[in-house]
Amino acid sequence: MSFNNKVVIVTGASSGIGAATSLMFAKEGADVAIVARTQAKLAAVAKNIQALGRRALVIQADLSKEADTATIISKTIQHFGKLDVLVNNAGMASQGCLLDGKALQAYDEVMKTNVRAVVQLTSLAAPYLIQTKGNVVNISSVAGLIPSKMTTLMFYAVSKVALGHFTRCAALELAPSGVRVNSVNPGPVENQFLTNNKLNVSDELKSNLSDYTALGYIAKDDEIGRVILFLASDKARSITGSTYVIDNGCLLK
Ligand SMILES: NC(=O)c1ccc[n+]([C@@H]2O[C@H](COP(=O)([O-])OP(=O)(O)OC[C@H]3O[C@@H](n4cnc5c(N)ncnc54)[C@H](OP(=O)(O)O)[C@@H]3O)[C@@H](O)[C@H]2O)c1
Repeated sequence: MSFNNKVVIVTGASSGIGAATSLMFAKEGADVAIVARTQAKLAAVAKNIQALGRRALVIQADLSKEADTATIISKTIQHFGKLDVLVNNAGMASQGCLLDGKALQAYDEVMKTNVRAVVQLTSLAAPYLIQTKGNVVNISSVAGLIPSKMTTLMFYAVSKVALGHFTRCAALELAPSGVRVNSVNPGPVENQFLTNNKLNVSDELKSNLSDYTALGYIAKDDEIGRVILFLASDKARSITGSTYVIDNGCLLK
């Protein structure tokens, strides 16, 4: 799966799936524009990319802010001259449901980062992806396929459903221009997502997450990264508008 001299943008590259995936692209020969809010964490990822002999462009941006998001594609093109792959990985969760009075607040927060920013970035990237016959990989969740059992995460789930349908609609619009758009839908992943989002989840649930999967195993960041790289590669040239589930059989339970 060579990405030799390809240019890839990974949002949410400061930790978890995004950080691991950025390094995996660099190992396969890509130059990577890494996007997130936390400069220090991005700098560490950039150092690791450079240690692999590839170029890294750090773009500090808050994707919930339209003005920040607006600069990401132009900075990448200015620096690298082209764009081959856009990985819309950044995501957040905010708790709120119908009966706790926080529904609209949670809805607005998650939709801004998990959906609106993806629409904005994909739209700005599309003309450059058409030039390279590139592609987009969106990181959704199994929560985009079934309602979350944690009802206070309902708007996270709603945002991932919207992302799934955006993936299919974008794939249809861009297919005549030779640009593919796919989605990866992980089940629970062994990283800091719950802690980073300050989710009110009991320690018991956190330590028993594997009980929610049929295989009794929780995926690691690089296992999600492998699916992302596959979909972004020429090996997946016949795949567009698809939803790739990697959940250790979470949906079976
Ligand atoms: N972990 C799981 O169990 C799991 C399961 C299914 C799907 N997912 C999805 O996987 C994706 C990656 O999450 P992860 O698991 O790797 O968790 P993570 O370690 O918390 O990563 C989230 C990334 O998104 C960035 N981010 C969040 N809000 C942002 C904003 N407003 N502007 C810019 N960057 C922002 C964070 O960086 P900064 O904080 O530095 O900005 C971080 O790099 C998300 O879309 C998530 O919904 C995760």
